[in-house]
Amino acid sequence: MQKAQLTPNTTLYPVPVVLVTRGAGDEMNVFTVNRIASCNAEPPMISISVRPSRASHDLIARLEEFVVNIPWPEMELVGDFVGAATVRDTDKWAETGLTPLPAAVVRLPLLAECAVNLECSVQRQIQLPSHTLFVAEVVAMHADTAVLDRRQDVDFALAGGGLPYRAGPVRERPSAKFRPDELLQKVNAWRDRE
Ligand SMILES: Cc1cc2nc3c(=O)[nH]c(=O)nc-3n(C[C@H](O)[C@H](O)[C@H](O)COP(=O)(O)O)c2cc1C
Repeated sequence: MQKAQLTPNTTLYPVPVVLVTRGAGDEMNVFTVNRIASCNAEPPMISISVRPSRASHDLIARLEEFVVNIPWPEMELVGDFVGAATVRDTDKWAETGLTPLPAAVVRLPLLAECAVNLECSVQRQIQLPSHTLFVAEVVAMHADTAVLDRRQDVDFALAGGGLPYRAGPVRERPSAKFRPDELLQKVNAWRDRE
Protein backbone atom coordinates (compact mmCIF):
# COMPACT_ATOMS: atom_id res chain seq x y z
CA MET A 1 0.00 0.00 0.00
CA GLN A 2 1.40 3.35 -1.04
CA LYS A 3 0.71 6.58 0.83
CA ALA A 4 1.01 10.18 -0.35
CA GLN A 5 1.55 12.93 2.22
CA LEU A 6 -0.92 15.76 1.59
CA THR A 7 -1.42 19.33 2.72
CA PRO A 8 -3.56 18.97 5.89
CA ASN A 9 -7.29 19.60 5.48
CA THR A 10 -10.44 18.46 7.29
CA THR A 11 -11.19 15.36 5.24
CA LEU A 12 -13.71 13.12 6.98
CA TYR A 13 -16.03 10.51 5.61
CA PRO A 14 -18.96 10.70 5.41
CA VAL A 15 -19.70 14.42 5.77
CA PRO A 16 -23.28 15.43 6.54
CA VAL A 17 -24.76 18.39 4.67
CA VAL A 18 -27.52 20.25 6.50
CA LEU A 19 -29.59 23.37 5.94
CA VAL A 20 -29.48 25.71 8.91
CA THR A 21 -32.32 28.16 9.51
CA ARG A 22 -31.82 31.20 11.65
CA GLY A 23 -33.65 34.44 12.44
CA ALA A 24 -37.33 35.18 12.67
CA GLY A 25 -39.58 37.47 10.62
CA ASP A 26 -37.57 39.68 8.27
CA GLU A 27 -34.31 38.21 9.53
CA MET A 28 -35.24 34.67 8.56
CA ASN A 29 -32.62 32.91 6.44
CA VAL A 30 -31.40 29.48 5.40
CA PHE A 31 -27.82 28.47 4.55
CA THR A 32 -25.80 25.30 4.18
CA VAL A 33 -23.39 23.82 6.73
CA ASN A 34 -21.24 20.74 6.64
CA ARG A 35 -18.98 21.61 9.56
CA ILE A 36 -21.36 19.96 11.99
CA ALA A 37 -20.84 17.34 14.69
CA SER A 38 -22.57 15.50 17.49
CA CYS A 39 -20.65 16.54 20.61
CA ASN A 40 -22.59 15.52 23.77
CA ALA A 41 -25.14 12.85 24.71
CA GLU A 42 -26.88 13.99 27.92
CA PRO A 43 -28.24 16.47 27.11
CA PRO A 44 -28.05 15.97 23.34
CA MET A 45 -25.70 18.59 21.91
CA ILE A 46 -24.31 19.36 18.49
CA SER A 47 -21.87 21.93 17.16
CA ILE A 48 -21.72 23.91 13.94
CA SER A 49 -18.83 26.06 12.70
CA VAL A 50 -19.73 29.27 10.89
CA ARG A 51 -17.41 31.81 9.28
CA PRO A 52 -17.89 35.33 10.70
CA SER A 53 -18.24 36.64 7.11
CA ARG A 54 -21.53 34.75 6.59
CA ALA A 55 -24.61 36.94 6.92
CA SER A 56 -26.02 34.23 9.18
CA HIS A 57 -23.15 34.36 11.65
CA ASP A 58 -24.04 37.48 13.63
CA LEU A 59 -27.69 36.57 13.95
CA ILE A 60 -26.92 33.13 15.37
CA ALA A 61 -24.47 34.80 17.76
CA ARG A 62 -27.13 37.30 18.85
CA LEU A 63 -30.25 35.09 18.97
CA GLU A 64 -28.32 32.09 20.31
CA GLU A 65 -30.65 29.76 18.42
CA PHE A 66 -30.63 27.90 15.12
CA VAL A 67 -32.38 24.92 13.52
CA VAL A 68 -30.55 22.08 11.76
CA ASN A 69 -32.69 20.70 8.92
CA ILE A 70 -31.58 17.40 7.38
CA PRO A 71 -32.57 17.34 3.72
CA TRP A 72 -33.80 14.49 1.55
CA PRO A 73 -31.34 13.16 -1.04
CA GLU A 74 -33.08 14.94 -3.93
CA MET A 75 -32.53 18.28 -2.14
CA GLU A 76 -28.76 18.25 -2.64
CA LEU A 77 -28.91 21.01 -5.25
CA VAL A 78 -31.08 23.11 -2.95
CA GLY A 79 -28.25 22.81 -0.41
CA ASP A 80 -25.74 23.90 -3.02
CA PHE A 81 -27.90 26.89 -3.91
CA VAL A 82 -28.60 28.21 -0.40
CA GLY A 83 -24.92 27.56 0.37
CA ALA A 84 -23.75 29.60 -2.63
CA ALA A 85 -26.25 32.49 -2.53
CA THR A 86 -26.31 35.02 0.30
CA VAL A 87 -29.32 36.65 1.91
CA ARG A 88 -27.50 39.96 1.37
CA ASP A 89 -28.67 39.96 -2.25
CA THR A 90 -30.98 36.95 -2.71
CA ASP A 91 -34.40 36.05 -1.34
CA LYS A 92 -33.64 32.37 -0.84
CA TRP A 93 -37.22 31.61 0.24
CA ALA A 94 -38.69 33.04 -2.96
CA GLU A 95 -36.06 31.37 -5.16
CA THR A 96 -36.32 27.89 -3.64
CA GLY A 97 -39.93 27.80 -2.54
CA LEU A 98 -38.80 26.28 0.77
CA THR A 99 -41.56 26.41 3.37
CA PRO A 100 -40.86 27.78 6.88
CA LEU A 101 -42.89 26.16 9.67
CA PRO A 102 -43.16 27.39 13.27
CA ALA A 103 -40.83 25.56 15.68
CA ALA A 104 -41.93 24.11 19.04
CA VAL A 105 -39.36 25.84 21.29
CA VAL A 106 -37.10 28.23 19.37
CA ARG A 107 -38.19 31.43 17.60
CA LEU A 108 -36.89 30.36 14.19
CA PRO A 109 -38.56 28.34 11.46
CA LEU A 110 -38.18 24.67 10.57
CA LEU A 111 -37.99 23.67 6.93
CA ALA A 112 -41.13 21.71 6.05
CA GLU A 113 -39.43 19.94 3.13
CA CYS A 114 -36.64 18.39 5.24
CA ALA A 115 -36.71 14.89 6.76
CA VAL A 116 -35.51 15.84 10.25
CA ASN A 117 -35.37 19.14 12.14
CA LEU A 118 -33.30 19.76 15.27
CA GLU A 119 -34.16 22.89 17.24
CA CYS A 120 -30.96 24.13 18.89
CA SER A 121 -30.20 26.49 21.74
CA VAL A 122 -26.62 27.83 21.76
CA GLN A 123 -24.74 27.16 25.01
CA ARG A 124 -21.23 28.22 24.02
CA GLN A 125 -19.55 30.24 21.30
CA ILE A 126 -15.88 29.51 20.74
CA GLN A 127 -13.81 31.71 18.42
CA LEU A 128 -11.52 29.57 16.30
CA PRO A 129 -9.03 31.02 13.79
CA SER A 130 -11.41 31.03 10.80
CA HIS A 131 -14.80 30.01 12.25
CA THR A 132 -17.00 30.43 15.32
CA LEU A 133 -17.92 27.10 16.88
CA PHE A 134 -21.50 27.25 18.16
CA VAL A 135 -22.09 24.46 20.69
CA ALA A 136 -25.82 23.95 21.16
CA GLU A 137 -28.32 21.80 23.00
CA VAL A 138 -30.97 20.07 20.88
CA VAL A 139 -34.12 21.27 22.67
CA ALA A 140 -36.74 19.82 20.31
CA MET A 141 -36.71 17.44 17.38
CA HIS A 142 -39.08 16.61 14.54
CA ALA A 143 -38.93 13.82 11.97
CA ASP A 144 -40.96 12.84 8.95
CA THR A 145 -42.69 9.59 9.91
CA ALA A 146 -41.20 8.01 6.76
CA VAL A 147 -37.76 7.87 8.47
CA LEU A 148 -39.02 6.42 11.79
CA ASP A 149 -38.46 2.78 12.67
CA ARG A 150 -40.67 0.62 14.92
CA ARG A 151 -39.14 2.18 18.05
CA GLN A 152 -39.75 5.70 16.73
CA ASP A 153 -36.01 6.20 16.20
CA VAL A 154 -34.78 7.95 13.07
CA ASP A 155 -33.37 5.46 10.59
CA PHE A 156 -32.08 7.25 7.52
CA ALA A 157 -31.86 3.96 5.64
CA LEU A 158 -35.66 4.14 5.45
CA ALA A 159 -35.32 7.30 3.37
CA GLY A 160 -34.64 5.23 0.27
CA GLY A 161 -30.91 5.33 -0.19
CA GLY A 162 -29.96 7.75 2.52
CA LEU A 163 -29.50 11.48 2.78
CA PRO A 164 -26.84 13.45 0.91
CA TYR A 165 -23.34 13.11 2.24
CA ARG A 166 -20.28 14.45 0.52
CA ALA A 167 -17.13 12.43 0.65
CA GLY A 168 -13.68 13.92 0.76
CA PRO A 169 -12.49 17.32 1.86
CA VAL A 170 -15.08 19.57 3.44
CA ARG A 171 -15.98 22.05 0.74
CA GLU A 172 -17.92 25.09 1.78
CA ARG A 173 -17.01 28.01 -0.45
CA PRO A 174 -18.66 28.63 -3.78
CA SER A 175 -16.15 27.97 -6.55
CA ALA A 176 -16.29 29.25 -10.12
CA LYS A 177 -18.42 26.28 -11.16
CA PHE A 178 -20.62 26.75 -8.14
CA ARG A 179 -22.76 29.54 -9.55
CA PRO A 180 -26.07 30.41 -7.85
CA ASP A 181 -27.70 31.42 -11.16
CA GLU A 182 -26.91 28.06 -12.78
CA LEU A 183 -27.87 26.13 -9.67
CA LEU A 184 -31.15 27.96 -9.61
CA GLN A 185 -32.33 26.34 -12.83
CA LYS A 186 -31.88 22.94 -11.19
CA VAL A 187 -33.51 24.15 -7.98
CA ASN A 188 -36.49 25.27 -10.06
CA ALA A 189 -36.80 21.73 -11.42
CA TRP A 190 -36.91 20.45 -7.82
CA ARG A 191 -39.40 23.14 -6.93
CA ASP A 192 -41.67 22.22 -9.84
CA ARG A 193 -41.53 18.49 -9.02
CA GLU A 194 -44.79 16.46 -9.06
C1 LIG B 1 -22.00 22.06 0.88
C2 LIG B 1 -21.74 23.36 1.60
C3 LIG B 1 -21.30 23.35 2.92
C4 LIG B 1 -21.06 24.55 3.61
N1 LIG B 1 -20.63 24.50 4.91
C5 LIG B 1 -20.40 25.66 5.59
C6 LIG B 1 -19.98 25.62 6.95
O1 LIG B 1 -19.86 24.54 7.57
N2 LIG B 1 -19.73 26.79 7.59
C7 LIG B 1 -19.88 28.02 6.95
O2 LIG B 1 -19.62 29.08 7.56
N3 LIG B 1 -20.29 28.09 5.65
C8 LIG B 1 -20.55 26.94 4.97
N4 LIG B 1 -20.97 26.98 3.67
C9 LIG B 1 -21.09 28.29 3.00
C10 LIG B 1 -22.38 29.03 3.35
O3 LIG B 1 -23.51 28.18 3.31
C11 LIG B 1 -22.52 30.15 2.30
O4 LIG B 1 -21.46 31.06 2.43
C12 LIG B 1 -23.86 30.86 2.33
O5 LIG B 1 -23.93 31.62 1.13
C13 LIG B 1 -24.04 31.77 3.53
O6 LIG B 1 -25.29 32.37 3.42
P1 LIG B 1 -25.65 33.77 4.13
O7 LIG B 1 -24.61 34.78 3.67
O8 LIG B 1 -27.03 34.07 3.60
O9 LIG B 1 -25.59 33.53 5.59
C14 LIG B 1 -21.24 25.80 2.96
C15 LIG B 1 -21.70 25.81 1.62
C16 LIG B 1 -21.95 24.61 0.96
C17 LIG B 1 -22.45 24.65 -0.45
